[in-house]
Amino acid sequence: MRMKDKVGLVTAAASGMGRSGALRFAREGAAVGVADIDAAGVAAVVEEIKAAGGRAIPLVGDLRDDGFARDIVAEAAGAFGALDFVWNHVGHPGPAAVEGIDMAVFDLAVDLNLRTVLVTTEAAIPHLRARGGGAMLFTASVSGLQGSAWSPVYSAMKFGVVGFVRSLARRLAPERIRVNAICPGNTDTPMLRVFVARPDQAATRGNDVEALVKGIGAANPMKRSAHPDEIANAALFLLSDEASFVNGAALPVDGGMTA
Ligand SMILES: NC(=O)c1ccc[n+]([C@@H]2O[C@H](COP(=O)([O-])OP(=O)(O)OC[C@H]3O[C@@H](n4cnc5c(N)ncnc54)[C@H](O)[C@@H]3O)[C@@H](O)[C@H]2O)c1
Repeated sequence: MRMKDKVGLVTAAASGMGRSGALRFAREGAAVGVADIDAAGVAAVVEEIKAAGGRAIPLVGDLRDDGFARDIVAEAAGAFGALDFVWNHVGHPGPAAVEGIDMAVFDLAVDLNLRTVLVTTEAAIPHLRARGGGAMLFTASVSGLQGSAWSPVYSAMKFGVVGFVRSLARRLAPERIRVNAICPGNTDTPMLRVFVARPDQAATRGNDVEALVKGIGAANPMKRSAHPDEIANAALFLLSDEASFVNGAALPVDGGMTA
C-alpha cells in the first residue's frame, strides 16, 4: 500500500478526478476526508470507501464559505488524529468572455480557484508542520501552463495557482512540506461539459455540448480525453512518499497537449 496510515483531505471529492483520488488513496491505505457541496455524492464516496474496508469521513459544505474551507482541515485531522496530505482540487471554469464578462461568474471562479484553496492551505500548514512534514497538491490545468484563447480568465487564475504552488514549495521545503501542482488536460468529468457549455463560449462555437466534448477529445494528441482515474494516478504519486524529492512541480497530465 502506497499510502498506508496516512491521513488526507480531498476537496471537490464527490465527482470526477477528486472522487477518483479519494477512492484510490483509500485503497492505498489512507484515511480520507471527503469534502464537497454535493451531500449525496459525498455520502456515496464515503460509503464506497467503507464498503471496501477503508476509512473516510464526509465533509459537506460550500467551499466558498471560509469557515467551511478552514473547518474541514480540523475535522479530518480530528477524526483520524493527524494530517499528512491535502489535495486542493476544487476549481471553476469561470467566464469564457473578456468583453461582456459576467463579474458574478468571475467572483465565483476567484473564490473556487484561489480564495478557498488559500484558506484551506492556511489551516493545513500547522497540522502538516506538527506531523514533521507532509504534502499538498493543487489542481491547476494546462491553462495554468499556456494561454487559452477560450479561457483567458481561467488561465489567469490557474497561472496564479501555479505561482502560489511554486512559492509555497520554496517557503515550506525546510519544514519538509512538499507542494506541487497537477495540470490536467481535457478530462472526462461533468466540469468538461460545464466548460464547453459556458453560454459566452458555446454561442461562438456552436451549442452542441457533446459535439464540442468530442472535438476536444479529438484535438488531443492522444485523440481522447483523460479518464479521471488517470489524473488520480498522478495525484497519488505526487502525494505519496514516492515523490519525496518532487517539490514545486507543475506536472502536466494532458496526453501531450502542452508538449
Ligand atoms: N475536467 C477537466 O477537463 C479539467 C481540466 C483541467 C483542470 N480541471 C480542474 O479540475 C477541478 C475540477 O475537477 P473535475 O473536472 O473532476 O470536476 P467535476 O465536475 O467532476 O467535480 C467538481 C466537484 O466540485 C464540487 N463543487 C463545486 N462547487 C463547490 C463548492 N462551492 N463547494 C464545494 N464543492 C463544490 C461539485 O459538487 C463537484 O463534485 C477544477 O479545479 C478544474 O479547474 C478540470
